[in-house]
Amino acid sequence: KKSEFGLFGLGVMGKSLARNLANKGFHISLFNRHVPGIEEDVAKNFKNEFKELATSLPFDHIESFVNSLETPRKIMLMVNAGKIVDNVIEDLLPFLEDGDILIDGGNSNYNKTKERFDYLKGKNIHFVGAGVSGGEEGALKGPSIMPGGSKESYKGVQPFLEAIAAKDANNLPCCTYIGTEGSGHFVKMVHNGIEYVEMQLLAEVFVMLKALGHNPDEIADILESWKETTNSYLLEITIDILRKKEGDDWLVNQIMDKAGNKGTGNWTTITTAQLGVPSSMIATALFARYTSFYKDERIAASKNLATKINTNFNVAIDDILKAYQFARIVNHYQGFKLIQEASKNYQWNLNLSELARVWTNGCIIRSELMVELVTIFKSTDNILTDETIIDKIKTLKPSVKKAVSECILNELPIPNFSESINFLNSFAIANSSANLIQAQRDYFGAHTYQRINDESNKFYHTEWNN
Ligand code: 6PG
Repeated sequence: KKSEFGLFGLGVMGKSLARNLANKGFHISLFNRHVPGIEEDVAKNFKNEFKELATSLPFDHIESFVNSLETPRKIMLMVNAGKIVDNVIEDLLPFLEDGDILIDGGNSNYNKTKERFDYLKGKNIHFVGAGVSGGEEGALKGPSIMPGGSKESYKGVQPFLEAIAAKDANNLPCCTYIGTEGSGHFVKMVHNGIEYVEMQLLAEVFVMLKALGHNPDEIADILESWKETTNSYLLEITIDILRKKEGDDWLVNQIMDKAGNKGTGNWTTITTAQLGVPSSMIATALFARYTSFYKDERIAASKNLATKINTNFNVAIDDILKAYQFARIVNHYQGFKLIQEASKNYQWNLNLSELARVWTNGCIIRSELMVELVTIFKSTDNILTDETIIDKIKTLKPSVKKAVSECILNELPIPNFSESINFLNSFAIANSSANLIQAQRDYFGAHTYQRINDESNKFYHTEWNN
């Protein structure tokens, strides 16, 4: 009997997705390259390890793997993003037939996904670029899935992807057809950008609560009390992390303060710049990671450039909570704004409410705020025009102003909090200082400017020296 679905690549995520599919009753084929030095192949070992895989077929030979699948074949690639994806596609191609569907479930760059989509279209093979979020546990118990490609190809893989996805509060799958080409991977990329900011904001909360003299356990207790109004997956894991002890010390205190990254935050920042969208908090969170990397230079600078502060850091914990709520709203505004502009630019016709819904469970940025956004996006694409959001911003703003000012006076680094209020101050202003920029551009480069109160939108140039 042939298998219904193939899984190519048995890394951490591939294994978890395979078990998830098998647990849902699907007959699957498993492929992993033969790893030198291991006698039995990886797929066979893996199959023998878990009873839910009893009916699955393991392979380390590509042609037999492909031939073990019902046509049109559905093969999900769970390999590292980058050149490997192209290599795997080339390895599979000789054995595929018209109408077969390849799904790339890695964090691939959306531009590459479009290229692969077009390339495979020319060969009558469907290509679905699917963002998958939720890490190892999510992949096993239910990830959030963001598939992009042709609608027709989605229909072929829909029963599988929707069965293994997390479920939202109404028991609908956290998986939906996103749009054509690379839109699924685009949306996953922005998910990660929002994730970078959410993580950075919690790190900055940590900075402030430490400055108030609290130890990690006390900070965890404070964050625990925030769950009632402001819960999110990242808040929950941060509480767990802060409570973890190793001997007499907290483990977090023993971790080297250099933040890594695998590139998606970098791509989001490049993309927001390319599309002309000011998603500045994502760039700020990315650069905060980059700054952290200069450990040696930071140590030297801390001796030469930091001031010994005598003033007391004086912020109420409630102000920190409110500042955090404020910054999260701005982060979500900016992230969704980037998606909305990309959707217009690439004519993807993305549905922001449906996207927020897919992000209410399974993924790393699931939160109570995300649940609220599902409803808000039903009536507007711009959350900053929504009455409840406007009310919240007004209520929270004094706290973010207080927290950020106090941090700056005390030389505490809070780049994302600071960016959240600076962005809002730059945005919620009818007359900005960009008039001076225009004048400067016209002065040295004759770039011209438009005048207020001139309905014709005419461009003017001035001989500034005369
Ligand atoms: C997810 C995560 C996942 C992964 C990122 C982390 O949604 O499950 O975003 O994709 O953890 O690759 O990215 P960095 O290594 O860049 O932090």
